[in-house]
Amino acid sequence: MPTELEWTPDARELADLELLLSGAFHPLTGFLGAADVAEVTARGRLADGTPWPAPVTLRLPFPVSPGDRVALRDPEGAATAVLTVTEQADSGEVAGPVEGLGEPEHGPFARLRRSPGEVRKDLPEGAVLAVTMRGPLDSTAIEDVAATAEELEATVLLMPLVFGEGGPAVVRAALKARDRLPGANVVAVPLAPREPAIDLELREHVAAAYGATEHLAGPDPVVIPGPPHKRGLVVFFTGLSGSGKSTIARGVRDALLERGSRTVTYLDGDVVRRLLSKGLTFSREDRDLNIRRIGFVAAEVARHGGLAICAPIAPYAATRAEVRAMVEEVGADFLLVHVATPLEECERRDRKGLYAKARAGLIPEFTGISDPYEEPDDADLVIDTTGMPVDAAVASVMNALTAGGWIR
Ligand code: ADX
Repeated sequence: MPTELEWTPDARELADLELLLSGAFHPLTGFLGAADVAEVTARGRLADGTPWPAPVTLRLPFPVSPGDRVALRDPEGAATAVLTVTEQADSGEVAGPVEGLGEPEHGPFARLRRSPGEVRKDLPEGAVLAVTMRGPLDSTAIEDVAATAEELEATVLLMPLVFGEGGPAVVRAALKARDRLPGANVVAVPLAPREPAIDLELREHVAAAYGATEHLAGPDPVVIPGPPHKRGLVVFFTGLSGSGKSTIARGVRDALLERGSRTVTYLDGDVVRRLLSKGLTFSREDRDLNIRRIGFVAAEVARHGGLAICAPIAPYAATRAEVRAMVEEVGADFLLVHVATPLEECERRDRKGLYAKARAGLIPEFTGISDPYEEPDDADLVIDTTGMPVDAAVASVMNALTAGGWIR
């Protein structure tokens, strides 16, 4: 039967999927249904009584029926598995077994993402001490591992848990530790973190699936973010057409370029619509796509420590929140500046003559006139430019950047 339904799960769901397919989540072979989730949450057991610590769930945003087959794709679009649906809860969470499509693994250190079956085949007989790691092992921790292994006469299996941006660094830490632990093996496991107690139990289950007879959890990493002036930053202006967003944004860009301490990328609404978002309309769908594109580029800039200034209308709160999340995801900061000049003032200025046309019905879906603008309730800075000189508005943003430590 051809599979027409398809979905790209989020990062956590894809990581769980990989572990379901590899057998690392043994005895699970698919996503859990409502009854299992309820029991797991209440008692740490599946509905049939088998111990299992964590809900392993997948949400589909569209309705499916038992028996439907859904192709699950990775973010690059490759189908990695097929889910056969057994049930769907009101929340959209689906249960059912998954079947791998044997797509080649990719990504950094893909060669170390081996399945429990492959790893167990290579391990010698006898005790196996698994060490799950979410951060580096210091000398003391390595000595502990060595001493425990000696005492148990165990083979060491280092298991860097790779999830998200920090994944490759944890694998590098494991390879470094291996150099100091003769005979140790390394396998990278895409286990997304849960709340600490559940995370620990789940690590034990996964370690056991890999053949471990003993398990040590490496210390949790101490995350020390770099100082703000070295972190990526997205300054995101939102507000009505004619509110002064672009004028202030350009002023901020110029002030930053004059200081020269940070690299700046400027993504103006009108400029973006001439190239990056050319052809998009002002329907809700296209506006959202426009903002996501801007957010995507801004997050890439910020990922590398750059500063991106964006100045679209961005009328929808949920889409602005998505951009904030995309930026924070890469370890950068997000500053939302609401240019809150009231509609009457924007319309009075009407620098592009668009409000007059919108009032005359010549431009449909015009923000503030015939299309919504959702006022932010999460703005980091609010500027009403009514009667305010441009310099003062620019200065208020520069002050916020200084106060936050992003510029010195
Ligand atoms: S957004 O809604 O997708 O964020 P964006 O900032 O890219 O909008 O574009 C807004 C600019 O497009 C306005 O400043 C205005 O010059 C022009 N424009 C043309 N049609 C519309 C419309 N229907 N609503 C708002 N702005 C429009």
